[in-house]
Amino acid sequence: MNQQAVDSSSDSKVIFDIDSVRKSFPILDQEINGKPLIYLDNAASAQKPDTVIQSISDYYCHDNSNVHRGAHTLGDRATAAFEGARETVRQFINATTTKEIIWTGGTTEAINIVASGLTASLKAGDEIIVSRMEHHANIVPWQMLAERTGARLKVIEINDAGELIEGAFDQLLTELTKIVAVTQVSNVLGTINPVKEIIEKAKSVGAITLIDGAQAVPHFLVDVQALDCDFFVFSSHKLFGPTGVGVLYGKEEKLNALPPYQGGGEMIERVTFEKTTYNELPYKFEAGTPPISEAIGLAKAIEYFTAFDRQSIELYENNLLKYANSMVCNVPGMRIIGTAANKVPVMSFMIDGLHPSDIGTLLDQQGIAIRTGHHCAMPLMDFYGLPGTARASFAFYNTQAEVEKLFEGLQKIQRLFT
Ligand code: ALA
Repeated sequence: MNQQAVDSSSDSKVIFDIDSVRKSFPILDQEINGKPLIYLDNAASAQKPDTVIQSISDYYCHDNSNVHRGAHTLGDRATAAFEGARETVRQFINATTTKEIIWTGGTTEAINIVASGLTASLKAGDEIIVSRMEHHANIVPWQMLAERTGARLKVIEINDAGELIEGAFDQLLTELTKIVAVTQVSNVLGTINPVKEIIEKAKSVGAITLIDGAQAVPHFLVDVQALDCDFFVFSSHKLFGPTGVGVLYGKEEKLNALPPYQGGGEMIERVTFEKTTYNELPYKFEAGTPPISEAIGLAKAIEYFTAFDRQSIELYENNLLKYANSMVCNVPGMRIIGTAANKVPVMSFMIDGLHPSDIGTLLDQQGIAIRTGHHCAMPLMDFYGLPGTARASFAFYNTQAEVEKLFEGLQKIQRLFT
């Protein structure tokens, strides 16, 4: 397989060259347990290019200050960089205005802001639809909302390949459906869900839609206006940015209709002991000092990532996944969990006679990092009757040679322990 995907887009895009890409990620150039690091745990957290790391250092070396407050130059610089980062995110997902971009601690907090804010909108008997393949972050906040309001949680079931069962959503959707919250991409299976279709149907009964985009944005372009979802959430750290920051996108009128999540500084317009009035969007949801350097770092990550032609990256990643799939037959007893036709390069697997956590430990001894366990998706594990899986998740900086090393490692383990 060609390691260099060809840039087919306009000449404003950077040619995707795997060697120079890898050089941009300093962490990749090291040994773990005496072996070159092979990092295949990108769905848990992706690595950061040097421009992101440098931007955080630059911020603290030159511009650090609080935002929207200081009557001084550093405050102005910090505010300009912070609000500039919001504009970068707006463009990245094609939101209409920066009022629709709320900084959060991550995907989990973003979903909690929405679920908590919808409490007064639900009553007993109303229904919330999620799917079997949701991350706990897109289940538990809705369950808590259901407990508070007497609403019911309903689940779109999946088939053995890990795809939403055709027609299952249609059967659940009724006039009682008030919220539909689904993931665009499964963190365990890699399945890409037909969220545009789901949103369209949800809208036909007037339901509010939230899309968990945490595993989607590192792999393909998302346009929230084209999707027409009410809310879209993602985290920075899976998108090659820093930890501690994420994004809640919401349509302006939907965000205006939600009450604030936390009280404190910044989210207020005027405070008296009798009554507080709230700030306008997006600040209404940003109580306290926000994650400033993290937001700036995320914007750098987006700039780095979007400089490449996305089709080249998608093609490259698809080829990595295809290559990995073609090697499964070389490991006796290995089977893939999640064989959807439409997938990002995430490969959950089991090997007969081996516990996933042992696979993880033994691969680590060979310098190979994967994730094992339930992946914060216990209802999905229940569906497959498994306590957990081993999961290799690829990013655009991984290589065919690394895939080969993974399979050599698995063969070695398989020979030794079965
Ligand atoms: N949600 C992250 C994962 O899938 C942590 O690993």
